[in-house]
Amino acid sequence: MPDSWPYQNAELPTAERVNDLLARMTLTEKIGQLHQGFDLNADHHTDIREGKIGSAIVANSATSGNDRQARVRAAQLNALQRVAVQESRLGIPLLFARDVIHGHRTVAPIPLGQAASFSPELIRACAEIAALEARADGIHWVFTPMLDVARDARWGRVAEGFGEDAFLASTLAYAAVRGYQGEEKNLRVAACAKHFVGYGTVEGGRDYNTLEVSAYTLQNVHLMPFRAAVKAGVATVMSAFCDWNGLPVAAHSYLLNDILRGQLGFQGVLVTDWEGALELMRHGVAGSVKEAAALAFEAGNDMDMVSGIYRQGLPEALATGQVSLEALDEAVQRVLTLKFQLGLFEQPYTDEMEAERVQFRPAARETVRELARRSIVLLKNAGDVLPLQDVNRVGVFGPAALWREQLFGTWTLDGQEGDVPTLLESLRGALPGVDVWHTLNLDEALDWARHTDVVIVPVGETPTRSGEDHSIASLELPAGQQAWLEALHEVGVKVVTVVLTGRPLVLSRVLKFSEAVVLAWHPGVTGGEAIAEVLCGRVNPSGKLPMSLPRHTGQVPLHYAHHPTGRPVEVIPGAYRLSDMLDGPLLPFGFGLSYTEFRCSALRVSADYVPMGESVTVSATVVNVGAVAGETVVQLYLRDVVSSRVRPVRELCGFQRVALHPGEAREVQFSVGKAELGFYDELGTFRLEEGEFRFWLGLDSRADLETGFWLTSERN
Ligand code: GLC
Repeated sequence: MPDSWPYQNAELPTAERVNDLLARMTLTEKIGQLHQGFDLNADHHTDIREGKIGSAIVANSATSGNDRQARVRAAQLNALQRVAVQESRLGIPLLFARDVIHGHRTVAPIPLGQAASFSPELIRACAEIAALEARADGIHWVFTPMLDVARDARWGRVAEGFGEDAFLASTLAYAAVRGYQGEEKNLRVAACAKHFVGYGTVEGGRDYNTLEVSAYTLQNVHLMPFRAAVKAGVATVMSAFCDWNGLPVAAHSYLLNDILRGQLGFQGVLVTDWEGALELMRHGVAGSVKEAAALAFEAGNDMDMVSGIYRQGLPEALATGQVSLEALDEAVQRVLTLKFQLGLFEQPYTDEMEAERVQFRPAARETVRELARRSIVLLKNAGDVLPLQDVNRVGVFGPAALWREQLFGTWTLDGQEGDVPTLLESLRGALPGVDVWHTLNLDEALDWARHTDVVIVPVGETPTRSGEDHSIASLELPAGQQAWLEALHEVGVKVVTVVLTGRPLVLSRVLKFSEAVVLAWHPGVTGGEAIAEVLCGRVNPSGKLPMSLPRHTGQVPLHYAHHPTGRPVEVIPGAYRLSDMLDGPLLPFGFGLSYTEFRCSALRVSADYVPMGESVTVSATVVNVGAVAGETVVQLYLRDVVSSRVRPVRELCGFQRVALHPGEAREVQFSVGKAELGFYDELGTFRLEEGEFRFWLGLDSRADLETGFWLTSERN
């Protein structure tokens, strides 16, 4: 292979290189670029030499999120890459992908916990760390961020997303994509916005189930984070497994071509989810391999993840004209463009020495620990039992105090158990001179508790109950754990409960039988330390709930931004949505306590009447009226009072994290404009309509400082 062909000339524009390479490719090589293999090894060398594989997911199973994978090794990927680059006809590099969902070797909190930090800049920094570590190991494409807005905690994958709110998820989506990819021209790694679209609405919370959601809600909730990701320049998108409105998403040309590429303007690579193309036959919309290949391809999926359907079915679909050569070339162009943007033709190999040096650096660990600190939500603190001060004897009860890799949470493939301090080790380190006992035996705990200041009880679920294909029927604590709390409460010791979980749980009785409760999610490699820092007061907790906490499993799906309906509870007093349950969540979206206290006041708008097309500025004052420094998240919610479509009773339209010393006051300002005031109709047409808008500002979604303004029709 000469090294003087135009596509090998890095001085030429990418489009020129792509077109030159495309013109030299055979049909087999073109289809090969649209096939993603998995767990590649020497058995695949022939296919690689013949240009039949364009990409590989570095994973050995479809449920790699649930099993701890062998760490990826740069040497192994380099060996495969050498076959592609040096032994194939055109030397097109392989594109290696992996599910780096919340960190590579330096494991961050699960994305749901990250969302609780309301800290886009920190999430971006952690995404950058993950990208650098993954790229150093030879990974070019990370299947993250997961942008499925979810309101049903029975669904195990709520752990991977940014919670129930479209605005929060969109803000964090933009930050994550920019963190993973860096600058457009030379991508650090390719990010992947997934799972397009609406996967979080699986009926009954049961994974892979049908998506029951209206086109209108799809437009105004579930598509919003994908709009943000596309605006951030996301290089790839993954289509969802499920069926919506009568078609599997992977066969849905309206969703993938009309909306994703048409309305959102996405121009990158669209990949199916695992075997998503093959599964069209199981959905019953394709009767043969050829039909499935043609259907998935014509719907807009450029690449087939691991099923082999494109390699098997596209040649015949092309021969019969069901798929056009032009369309095939366009898909191949997108894949090749991505490879050039990643610099693979110039740097196809990974420096195997550098790979180890880059992993788990102290600075990376500290950044991730700051995110873990901010993700912790203080739910209760009766009698200011926290932070632990003036204590001589502290008890720690139960197995979770000894967890290491369980703290990673679901979808952790390259974290190392040996990197993780346990909560017990961290507490002992944070409480020098204090007698910290631990036992797994409840009788011992009850006996020792009588002579103990506080007993800390970490409860919750292990990652095996969280993540993909781990939906559950009951959101109560796992069996037996509640009894620990009640038994300890009965002996009169103060109980501090730490909840470790991949989803919101029903914590009504946990709150009842604990003096204090912190919700720490699955907090990642530094989670034990971050929890200990919060409990001992080195860190003042500032996390806010990214999902409403239900009183009972029977309430889900549950969220604050619901529609008013024709019979709102304010109008029909005493009407409960469920006759056997108080209305509303146990604790609301945006809620989180602090060791100090913040107050908001002086809410005002810049004008009572604002011409269409202009923004309105909303201001308020927040003050720390407590005795210690702390951070909080000031939240602004809005309602479009009368419009051509039903609008939520309130929805988040802005938030600002504020750090204040005792007595310190700060003015916060929000500029609210077209993007926040408008909405999409069911066809995706954006609408901005005159009329009254109301604002609420506060420290959670029950915010009660209220003001408003009128958007008028005069355009300026
Ligand atoms: C899985 C997941 C998807 C993941 C992909 C590759 O089934 O649905 O999120 O990125 O397959 O592992």
